[in-house]
Order: sequence, then structure tokens, then C-alpha cells
Amino acid sequence: MLSEKEKKQYIDEVVESFYTKAINDIFIGYQFKKISDKPDNLNQVLSDFNPHLLRIKNFWYQQFSLPTEIETSERTLFHAHDKLNIRRGELGRWITLFKEELSLSTHKETQDIKNKWLHKIEKFEKAFIKRYF
Ligand code: HEM
Repeated sequence: MLSEKEKKQYIDEVVESFYTKAINDIFIGYQFKKISDKPDNLNQVLSDFNPHLLRIKNFWYQQFSLPTEIETSERTLFHAHDKLNIRRGELGRWITLFKEELSLSTHKETQDIKNKWLHKIEKFEKAFIKRYF
């Protein structure tokens, strides 16, 4: 069982590692360039996304600490994504990369949060499909 501090550390690690890959990904990297501090750089670095990363981390801390109502978080998510005009395959790519990220840690202690996280990702994927496709 992870302590609150360890849980936050694990969330930070997953989010940072996922975004390091996603921001330069051949399929979805261009979506993140839309919100980069330095969109003209060929290779994006994590520090170009500091305000974004903070919001993402807070979102996930909240997902794993409070009894979050799914409707509330979906509204936040849709608000952030409506203007991006995401294609179906881009959603698939995001999901694949995120699941890959979660599969990297094989520590017994992270098993519980990983399973919850996978479940949440699948819920959000369904919600995205319903709204956008
Ligand atoms: C179910 C899948 C997804 C989840 C759970 C998710 C999660 C999030 C969260 C929590 C935010 C921040 C919201 C805020 O600012 O408060 C965000 C923003 C963003 N997401 Fe996603 N995302 C998903 C899919 C995608 C996909 C498929 C793409 C692009 C291919 C994408 C690209 C972005 C971008 C560019 C932003 C920043 C929008 C802005 O600040 O204007 N996301 N996402």
C-alpha cells in the first residue's frame, strides 16, 4: 500500500514519463505543440509544458484522492479537448501510450493504483468516443 506521498510521486513519474513521449510522438505530438511555450522547436522538452503538467498532475491527484464525480471530471476534460479537434486514431494512440506507460512499473506496491488508473482511462476513453465520434 502506497502512502499519500508515494502515491503523488508515482503519479508525477507516470505523467512526466508519458508526456516526455507524447509531446514528440509522431502521431499526436503536434497536438501538444498547440499549447507549448516554444511551439517552433523541432524537439519539444517537458519544461515547455510546465503550466500544463501542473494541471494534469492535479487532475490525477484528484482522481485518486477524492470521491470524484465522473460527471465533473468529464466536463473539465471536454472543456480542455473540444477545441483540439482530436481524430479517432489520435485518441487510440493516446490510450496505447498511456497503457504502455502504466505497464512499465512492475512494483507490487503500485499494482492497486495502476489497476484503478487503467479502469479510469477506459472510462474516459468511452466518454471521449461518445462525445466526439
Ligand atoms: C481519455 C483520454 C485523455 C485524458 C484522460 C486526458 C487528460 C487531460 C487533462 C486532465 C487535461 C488538462 C485539463 C485542464 O487543463 O484542466 C488535458 C489537456 C489536454 N489534452 Fe488530454 N487527455 C486525453 C486525451 C487526449 C488526446 C487524445 C489528446 C491529443 C491527441 C490530448 C491532448 C491534450 C492537450 C493538447 C491538452 C491541453 C489543452 C489546453 O490546455 O488548451 N488529450 N488532457
